[in-house]
Amino acid sequence: MRTLIRGGSVVSAAGSGSADLLIDDDKVVALADPGSHGWSAGADHVIDATGRYVLPGAVDIHTHMELPVSGTVSSDDFTTGTRAALLGGTTTIVDYAGQERGGGLLEGVERWQARAEGRACADYGFHLMVTDVRPDTLAELGTLAAAGVSSIKLFTAYPDTNYSDDGRILQAMRRAADLDVMVMMHAENGIAIDVLRAEALARGDTDPIHHLLTRPASLEAEAVERVVRLAEVAGCQLTIVHISSADALHAAVAGRDRGLPVFAETCPQYLWLAIEDLPDGFDAARYVCSPPLRWRREGHQQALWDGVATRRVDAVATDHCPFTWEQKQAGRGDFTRIPNGIGSVEHRLDLLHQGVADGRMSPARWVEVCCTDPARLAGLHPRKGVLAPGSDADVVVYDPAAEQVLSADTHHMNVDYSVFEGLTITGRTETVLLRGQVVVEDGTYVGTPGDGRFLPRGPSTAS
Ligand code: URP
Ligand code: ZN
Ligand code: ZN
Repeated sequence: MRTLIRGGSVVSAAGSGSADLLIDDDKVVALADPGSHGWSAGADHVIDATGRYVLPGAVDIHTHMELPVSGTVSSDDFTTGTRAALLGGTTTIVDYAGQERGGGLLEGVERWQARAEGRACADYGFHLMVTDVRPDTLAELGTLAAAGVSSIKLFTAYPDTNYSDDGRILQAMRRAADLDVMVMMHAENGIAIDVLRAEALARGDTDPIHHLLTRPASLEAEAVERVVRLAEVAGCQLTIVHISSADALHAAVAGRDRGLPVFAETCPQYLWLAIEDLPDGFDAARYVCSPPLRWRREGHQQALWDGVATRRVDAVATDHCPFTWEQKQAGRGDFTRIPNGIGSVEHRLDLLHQGVADGRMSPARWVEVCCTDPARLAGLHPRKGVLAPGSDADVVVYDPAAEQVLSADTHHMNVDYSVFEGLTITGRTETVLLRGQVVVEDGTYVGTPGDGRFLPRGPSTAS
């Protein structure tokens, strides 16, 4: 089956220009000068992209579909979450499978495989959250990498559930270095944060705002500085995930400036939302995530947008982890019980395109930070994240001039509110192809749940 996407402006990390895109079955065959090929007559399917951008399917390397946490489960499953992702132009996710304390690593991946297989609408890979560093877990890391799970997440946060101390982190990092496994790090000083949380509750400060106030940026930056040093000793590649503050970004960039393979990920919520935007009282529970939103007046958002524009931030991923309003009620009267997370898997490409519309970055940088560099970081490039001969034909036809208003009334994520309610965005995903098949047509999902395939990943090629 030959598909021709003609008349569009093809945007890559290197720049943009008029080109026709030639697809045979599930692969890109060529980018050609408009009309310079024989496919205009010979294609089975022609898509007219006049006035549109044509870009690689976006790659979201940080999601949590049906994540069990705080006695509940995040509200998007692999079908609803990846369908929403496709509608927003994201054709690949890398979700975080989890080790149970006392359990093994492969068991964790198998549990996640069972949730995703036959149900995902977009392609998917897995990182593995290592929550119990033991000699036998470290031994299992090689089998994990051989099975295509080439990255692990470690935590300096969440002492009760996911935390590893510095010694365990160093041991896991050493093993990761031997195997060329990328270490993804949740960097907040969870031990110190627990002291601040207990003090707040003892004072009677139980509202959601105290979640944000007890996780200061200094304790994010301190953890980043520490794990960068540990990674230096271990010799591993390190990605600091969901960076929320200027302080933490500077600490990560300082490591890279010393020549270390340290990478920085931020999320749309940290670029767009701030403590100043929070409603009073318990309504702020909608915005509770970790690390938390920061004060706009302290310049965190500006620093993160600048980092995106200047390549100090390597990837924007969502940390998609939605909970319904009913689920958030668990924290009424005690902010420490609010399930942590925000849903944005559908809107990442749009929220970052608004950065293009606002003159913060070029279309090429938009594609680089949403598609190409995440694919490199995750060991998926050049299969994903680029439109080049031999790449998977994951394609987004994007209308850069369309206007849309983000709202829970119109989004497709399984969450009954939107933290971006009422935000006007310039740009909209129109058509999406997943491995050559049209799965979104004029903003409507036309695929079949189960179309998504597991992606075994190799080592990161980001450095
Ligand atoms: O609040 C968040 N980020 N929830 C998801 C879990 C995590 O730490 O990434
Ligand atoms: Zn995290
Ligand atoms: Zn996360």
